[in-house]
Amino acid sequence: MFNIEEFDIKLDTEFIGRNFIYSDEVDSTNTVLLNNKEFGQNGTVLLAEFQSKGKGRKERVWISNAGQNLTFSVLLKNDLKDYKLNIINLGSSLAIAQSIENLFQLHVELKWPNDVLVNKKKIAGILIESSSKGSKISKVVIGIGINVNQPNFPGKFDIQPTSVRREFHEIVNREKLLSEMLNNFEDMLIIAKSDPGKIINDWRNRCKMIGEKIKIVEGDKTKVGIFDDIDDDGILMLKQGDKTEKIHFGDVSLR
Ligand code: BTN
Repeated sequence: MFNIEEFDIKLDTEFIGRNFIYSDEVDSTNTVLLNNKEFGQNGTVLLAEFQSKGKGRKERVWISNAGQNLTFSVLLKNDLKDYKLNIINLGSSLAIAQSIENLFQLHVELKWPNDVLVNKKKIAGILIESSSKGSKISKVVIGIGINVNQPNFPGKFDIQPTSVRREFHEIVNREKLLSEMLNNFEDMLIIAKSDPGKIINDWRNRCKMIGEKIKIVEGDKTKVGIFDDIDDDGILMLKQGDKTEKIHFGDVSLR
């Protein structure tokens, strides 16, 4: 069981997680926050012990054992015009990285666009979705899955998954990790507004693939080149010979 009181004592935010919804099972925390008007408060966090239709990036599924990990979504409704979604995307992966490093002796690396890796294995993922009214974005939902106490990951994966427990060799307090994560997430949002360049720079420093030869797969297209950098909007710049192409989507791996 998740101890909400213990989590709440450690939460040190103004608005993120102040409306906290805990659920045993939902289809997907992202879908619930996107589709239900009743959860309308800016900063609402929905944590579910199990998702029957957990979603990953690119129509993939996100499978996570019941009661062992953190699968949650954060709802943003206010001041959306002040943020760039790409910056929130990179910033969310940074907030996860900082939280894991603050609490455990682990070194966290990031992979474009928003995978969180420990020892080259995937420990967390992020799926951002939004809904619009007319031409205006009215809601942004940041869905985060952190593998915390899951002991093993049977199956075949593009990137091998892992959990904090597997890498840190101890059972982890999920309440402490979630409050640390949301504290860092709120701090990140302030920086995303006031100094987005800092998020780009911090992200760059945690991505060990920059300068390396990479392969990018998007649908049935594959591109190979040098991962030159990310631009001010977080878009990947792929160098092929003397030309540089901006890549908005895709799965990146080292060649
Ligand atoms: C990915 O790496 O493919 C993204 C995974 C995102 C998973 C989280 S778990 C909570 C939220 N609800 C979902 O259905 N997906 C996200």
